[in-house]
Amino acid sequence: MPESQHSSTNIIKIAPAAALRGDFQLPGDKSISHRSAMFAAVGEGESRLRNYSSARDCQSTLDCLEALGVKIKREPDAITIEGAGLDGLRQSPRALDVGNSGSTIRMLSGILAGQRFTTEITGDESIQRRPMRRIIDPLALMGARIEAREDNFAPLRIHGGNLKAIEYAPPVASAQVKSCALLAGLFADGRTTVIEKTPTRNHTEVMLRESGAEIEVEQTSDGERISVVGGKPLQALGDYTVAGDLSSASFFIVAALIAPDAELRLRHIGINPSRAALIDALKTIGAKIEIADRRVARGEPVADIVAQSSTLKGDLELSGAVIANLIDEIPILAIAATQLDGALAIRDARELRVKESDRLRAIVDNLRQMGIEIEEFDDGLRLAGKQRLRGARVDSFDDHRIAMSFAVAGLIAEGQTEIVNADAASVSLPEFYQLLAASGAKIEQSPA
Ligand code: S3P
Repeated sequence: MPESQHSSTNIIKIAPAAALRGDFQLPGDKSISHRSAMFAAVGEGESRLRNYSSARDCQSTLDCLEALGVKIKREPDAITIEGAGLDGLRQSPRALDVGNSGSTIRMLSGILAGQRFTTEITGDESIQRRPMRRIIDPLALMGARIEAREDNFAPLRIHGGNLKAIEYAPPVASAQVKSCALLAGLFADGRTTVIEKTPTRNHTEVMLRESGAEIEVEQTSDGERISVVGGKPLQALGDYTVAGDLSSASFFIVAALIAPDAELRLRHIGINPSRAALIDALKTIGAKIEIADRRVARGEPVADIVAQSSTLKGDLELSGAVIANLIDEIPILAIAATQLDGALAIRDARELRVKESDRLRAIVDNLRQMGIEIEEFDDGLRLAGKQRLRGARVDSFDDHRIAMSFAVAGLIAEGQTEIVNADAASVSLPEFYQLLAASGAKIEQSPA
């Protein structure tokens, strides 16, 4: 297994697993971790963030905040952030580097648009290919001036300050866009409203409430109207424990469902309904998933999840609003579907083409490489009938979720599966291969 993402050995080899057993807690949710650091940074007072995500992406968020003058202490049991308040950020001496993190660039840009200084923000090759027009538009309407390559791509130069509140209905269903506008709204003069036709994950709304912001969420015939009043100080988060990451958990859940003699128990996982559609979908096809000890911590539902070897049967047709609630889980769902006595059809998921990689392409290419028949649509895919996975060499496309999905496929493929650029997993879960190996998977690393 790789010691770190900087290792030059970057191929993982996986052999079929005879059994999988495990009982563990996962690092904090990536989405909630990003938000907790950003809210702590512009809050008043100290926040101690426990179980903060070990994801490389969430470290990028901390690095960017430090460059903006925020005092951050990184200790093994907590990240302590001294809130700078709404007016306390300083101009960064250098361009901010978000690495691979779309959430960092899109959400932090909302905060940067509220500053009376200019910031340049950029990231890796994948970030520089991802669309930013979706955040530039609302921020420009609020009065920020943003320069971007071809008016759409990073690096972005954000000239902020003097924002005015707007009412905005994003043309794409995106929690990052919603959050960007709401964060900018904290600095705007008046009440900023985002109207979501298709609801997306609501961690920002939950945390705004936790921070004492004046936030309102209203269901209307146009969709959900979320509004926040600007210019009011935010309270620090204080002692805050981030729930375990459900998107990371989903790789272990599916591993347990499709592997023989498997049972994995994952503790203290966030099960916010705006994220949990994968679990609901899997249950309808016979997945043995138990959600135990449900509780709510700081506004976020959490639970322990137990998944066991299952016989998957039935048809799954997923399209429309539900897609936003399992958007990050579609790659691993496709792996589960290779073992489904039935068909999986996904539509309305065009957004997958502009994630860390073109995920529809990556899923289809890699599954075909492993001998699977799969149909690709512009906005989705279709797989039918239980099929046999053949071990093959596949690529992560430098995408963490593709690397982890195909490692799980390797657990039940005939022969050996090799993942090239497997270290991409560190972007969201550096511990992934170790945890999988500790659960009984046969994994080895070899030089690229
Ligand atoms: C995220 C929102 C989603 C998701 C991403 C994290 C967030 O992106 O795919 O992994 O933390 O708000 P979009 O907002 O682009 O759909």
